Amino acid sequence: MTTAELRKKYLDFFTDKGHAILPSASLFPENDSTTLFTGSGMQPMIPYLLGEKHPQGALLADSQKCFRSQDIDEVGDNRHTTFFEMLGNWSLGDYFKKEQILWMFEFLTDVVGLDPQRIYVSVFSGKDEVGVPRDEESAKLWQKVFKGVGIEAKVVDEADKKGMQDVRIFYYDESKNWWSRSGVTDNMPVGEPGGPDSEMFWDFGQEYGFHEKSEYKDKPCHINCDCGRFIEIGNNVFMQYKKTDDGFEPLPQNNVDFGGGLERMVMASMDVADIFQIDVFVPVIAKIEEISGQSYEAGSEDVKKAMRIIADHIRAATMIMADVSGVGPSKADQGYIVRRLIRRAVVYGKKIEIGQESWTAELAEIVLDDYKDVYSEAGKNKKFVLDNLREA
Ligand code: ALA
Repeated sequence: MTTAELRKKYLDFFTDKGHAILPSASLFPENDSTTLFTGSGMQPMIPYLLGEKHPQGALLADSQKCFRSQDIDEVGDNRHTTFFEMLGNWSLGDYFKKEQILWMFEFLTDVVGLDPQRIYVSVFSGKDEVGVPRDEESAKLWQKVFKGVGIEAKVVDEADKKGMQDVRIFYYDESKNWWSRSGVTDNMPVGEPGGPDSEMFWDFGQEYGFHEKSEYKDKPCHINCDCGRFIEIGNNVFMQYKKTDDGFEPLPQNNVDFGGGLERMVMASMDVADIFQIDVFVPVIAKIEEISGQSYEAGSEDVKKAMRIIADHIRAATMIMADVSGVGPSKADQGYIVRRLIRRAVVYGKKIEIGQESWTAELAEIVLDDYKDVYSEAGKNKKFVLDNLREA
C-alpha cells in the first residue's frame, strides 16, 4: 500500500465511524510554547482533551505533519525519521478503550490487511504511587480481539528480562506505556494531561537476523528491543488523568488519543523492513544514487547510512520551510534546526562525494511534488524553499 492509499483508508475508516476529519495543523505549534515543533497529533488538541468543546465535535481524526528534533541522531537506522505523518483519532469524552482497541484491530487486519499473527501489543503495568492501576481492561480487550481471529493471546510482564516467551501481550512500566507531552509521571508539570497507553508493534520476523546482528544480541529480544525486528506502528493513549500538586486526578472526561506512524504502517503493509524503501523515499534515494554515483543497496553500511540521513534531513527541512510560517535557515529557534538539518545533509553529501551544485534543491523539488496534493503549502511555497536551499 502506498502512503497516499493508507492515509486515505485511515481517514475513510474513521469517517465511517462518525469522525470529523481535520486538516493537519502547522508544524509550528500555535498556543503551545513547550516545543518548537508539532511532534504529535495531540498537541493541537490539548485544550479539548482538558475539557473544552471542540467546534467539530467529540470524534476527530487527521493526518498530522510532525517533526521530532530529538530524533536527529537516531536517523540512519531502518525506521527513524525526523519528519513523519501521524495518523490520529480522538474521542473527547465519547468512546473509550473497548471501541478503540476493536477498531484499531479491525483497521490493521481488515483494512490494511496485516497478518494478526505478526501483531504484538503492550499495555501499562500500573504505578501504585500515583494511584494508576495496571491496565488489565486493555489486556483483556486485546485478548478478545485476538481470540476473534483464532489467536490465544497470553499476557506477561518482564519481556525486557525474559524475552518473547511465546506471548502476544506484554505489560511494561511507565517508561514505555505512559504518555504525556513531557514523558513519565515525574516529569509532567502540574496541569498536564496524560494517561496509560497501549502500543501496537509489527514483527518483521526472525529471518532478517536484526537482533543477532545488533548491539543487543546478548540480551533477550522483545517488542520494545531497539534491534529493529519489531517496529511500533501505533499508540492508543487513554488520556484520562491530569497532574496535580499532590498526584493525579481524573480529567473531567475519558479521552482517547491515538497516534499511528503513517510511514511505519506502510512499511508493515508492504512488509519492507526499511522505511527508506517505501514510496515517499524511493524517488529521493534514487536521486541521491544518481548524483552520488553510488548504490543504496550494494553500497557499504556507511553509504546507506549517509543516504538515509540526507533523504530524511532534506525532506524534513523542506517540509518545515514549506509550512505556513515561511521560516528558512537562521540562527534561532526553528530556523536554527532547519540550518542544522541542511548542514548535516551537506556533510553526509560530501562523504558520499556528491559534487554538483544545488543538489539539495533538486531533492526538495521531488519531496514538494510528492506532497503538494496533500499539503497545498508544499506547492505554494516551492519557490521559497528552493531559493533558500540554493543560497544555503
Ligand atoms: N500522543 C501519542 C503519541 O504521540 C498518541 O504517541
